Amino acid sequence: MFIPVRRNFSAGGPIYHSSIIFLAINAYFWYKLVMSVLERRTWAKIDLDIFKNNLKHIRDFTNAELLIPIKADAYGHGSCELARVAEEFGVEYLGVAGIEEAIELREYGIKIPIVILSPVFDFDIEDIIYYNVIPTVSDIDFAKNLNDYLNKMSKSIDIFIEVDTGMGRTGFLYDVAYGKIETIKNQFTNLRIKSIFSHFSTAEDEEDDFALTQINQFKELKRKLIQSGLTDAKFHISNSAGMVRFNDPEMAIVRPGILAYGLYTSENMKKYIDVQPIMSVYSRISRIANLNKGDSVSYGRRILDRNLKVATINIGYGDGFPHCLSDKGYVAIKGKKSKIIGNVCMDLTMVDISGIDNIRVGDIATIINGEITADDLAKQCNTINYEIITRIGERVSRIYYENGKPIKVRTIASRKIHNKL
Ligand SMILES: Cc1ncc(COP(=O)(O)O)c(C=O)c1O
Repeated sequence: MFIPVRRNFSAGGPIYHSSIIFLAINAYFWYKLVMSVLERRTWAKIDLDIFKNNLKHIRDFTNAELLIPIKADAYGHGSCELARVAEEFGVEYLGVAGIEEAIELREYGIKIPIVILSPVFDFDIEDIIYYNVIPTVSDIDFAKNLNDYLNKMSKSIDIFIEVDTGMGRTGFLYDVAYGKIETIKNQFTNLRIKSIFSHFSTAEDEEDDFALTQINQFKELKRKLIQSGLTDAKFHISNSAGMVRFNDPEMAIVRPGILAYGLYTSENMKKYIDVQPIMSVYSRISRIANLNKGDSVSYGRRILDRNLKVATINIGYGDGFPHCLSDKGYVAIKGKKSKIIGNVCMDLTMVDISGIDNIRVGDIATIINGEITADDLAKQCNTINYEIITRIGERVSRIYYENGKPIKVRTIASRKIHNKL
């Protein structure tokens, strides 16, 4: 592609040009220096610009409010930094799985509503109130205890209520949900019912109409609850797959997680919306050895059936690089795919680099990016792309890029230790 360059001839002249060159050289060496400090053993690049773009595409796709699940360390990307970007972007809610995740975000300075999407416990009540977090209520005893506690303080809070329309996991069972919600509405007046939600179990499978049954049941409940006076609550059911498949105007909120991180749960989702992965992962070669036919590699001794040039890479299952990739996964080195030889170890993995020239210790191996995707790793391990990205370990430094530049790094060296118990 040809990109025209605007030139400012009036500012020309030898001094001007040499200072530009001087600055460019300086910037280049500064960049190299910064990257040598950041890109050390194994690291993940988290592209916040792509994250914003994914959020924009989601925003353009739906008229509903956005609740972005930021749980499980934002699916492995780093919850604080992603929450900060999501907040600046203007998403309406963030979703977490437990109070500890909510506290981390509040202590980081996140101000927008945070919803705990999973059930909470009586021992979480104090923190829920102190940190101004929205709990999901799916148990009537919990609702009563929360209400009593608030009553004593003469306070009230927003709550979400979950209904189980077929996920078989959490929420009031569909058959009793109406009665339970009526009880909460009429008797537990310190709880403001902000929203009622349910969750799909098979939305990505368009052949399967169970999702339709779920959404129809949920809308039926919605009609009954509105008739009985619950007119302010927002109803929602869609995760990423549900959002693109139904895009239902009756639903006031959507909760797309995996899409916000740039991955799809099925091929057919790609026709609805364009998102890109925001995480890529890299590691470094720490040894190169010419091994002979009959030599062995890694735990369990993989015996080589021919001479191989083998590179050792500093990533292992301790970094979330799955052991199930042993003898079948690939990394990319100098743009070429290198097959894993033998078992993936906790910290190290060996790959075949026979036929790839000019490789040196310290060179970079691409673990996830471009032609090697989280979907590929998931397929080889018979798991889902969610698990691959979410399990990229804490030991893998996260380098955050914004406006095309590295702006922040999170390493285990900066992990806080609370000594005072
Ligand atoms: C209640 C709830 N809503 C939304 C999501 C987001 O799902 P997805 O990442 O498939 O969009 C999850 C994820 O597990 C969830 O548990």
